[in-house]
Amino acid sequence: MALPFFSSTRSIPDITAVPRHIAIIMDGNGRWAKQRFMPRVMGHQRGVETVREMVKACRRMGVEYLTLFAFSSENWRRPADEVSFLMQLFMKMLEREVAKLHENDIRLKVIGDRSRFEAQLVQQIEAAEQLTANNTGLTLTIAANYGGRWDIMQAMHALSQAHPERVTAFGEEELTPYLSMHYAPEPDLFIRTGGEQRISNFLLWQLAYTELYFTDTLWPAFDRAALEAAIQSYQKRERRFGRTSEQLTVDQPNA
Ligand code: IPE
Ligand code: IPE
Ligand code: MG
Repeated sequence: MALPFFSSTRSIPDITAVPRHIAIIMDGNGRWAKQRFMPRVMGHQRGVETVREMVKACRRMGVEYLTLFAFSSENWRRPADEVSFLMQLFMKMLEREVAKLHENDIRLKVIGDRSRFEAQLVQQIEAAEQLTANNTGLTLTIAANYGGRWDIMQAMHALSQAHPERVTAFGEEELTPYLSMHYAPEPDLFIRTGGEQRISNFLLWQLAYTELYFTDTLWPAFDRAALEAAIQSYQKRERRFGRTSEQLTVDQPNA
C-alpha cells in the first residue's frame, strides 16, 4: 500500500501560503431556512450553491484538496423525511454535477460507510469516482455517512485483517494507509460554519495539527469573501507542531 503523504506527529509538513487541504463542516442550513420562514430542506438545497462556489474558488486558488462534511454517521437520528431529502439531493448532485467536475479536471472521492446507502446511490458514487479518478486539478472529497470514530475502527479492522499473524503492537504510520483519507495530506485548515465550536465526529485522526476556524456565518450564506477571510486567518497562524516559536524562525519559517 502506498505511503501516506505525511503524518503531522511523525514529521513536519511543508507549510504553504494557500492551504493545500481545506476541510469544512457545512453547518447552519436549517437555521438559514428557518430565518426565512422556509422548511429546513430549502436550506440544504441552497447549501448546494455554496458547494459549487467553494469548489470553483478552491480550484482557482490552487487548493489541492477540499473535503466537505455532507452527512455524519449521527445524522440518521434526524426526521426520516429530512434524511431521505438529503439522500435524494446527494443523488441529484451526482447526476447533475459529475460531468462538470470531470470537465474541470476535478477528482471526486466519497468517504464514509456506504453500507446503509441504496444500491443505486452506491453505483452512482462508484461511477463518479471511476470517471474522475485520473483528474489532477483538485480532489473534492464528500464525507457522507462519515464518522471519525467509524473511520479509525474500520482502518484498525482492515489493518489487523491484513496482518493476522501479527502479535506485536501496530504503529501509527501502519494505520494511516487504511484510513479513508489515505490519499490526502492532513487538512491544513478546518472551517466550521454555523457558529458551533465542535468537531462533531469529523476527521478525528487527521485534525491533530489542523488550524481550526469557526464562523457564525450559516453555510448557505458562506461565500468566496468568507472563504478568503478564513484563509487570511490561517495565514496569520504560527504552525509549531510541538516546537517553540524560536525554533521556527531558525529551522523553517512559515511560508
Ligand atoms: C448542515 O446544516 C447540513 C447537515 C448536517 C446535513 P444543518 O441541517 O445541521 O443546519 P442547522 O445546524 O440545523 O442550522
Ligand atoms: C455536522 O453538523 C455534520 C455535517 C455538517 C454533515 P450537525 O449539525 O449534524 O452537527 P451537531 O449535531 O450540531 O453537532
Ligand atoms: Mg447543524
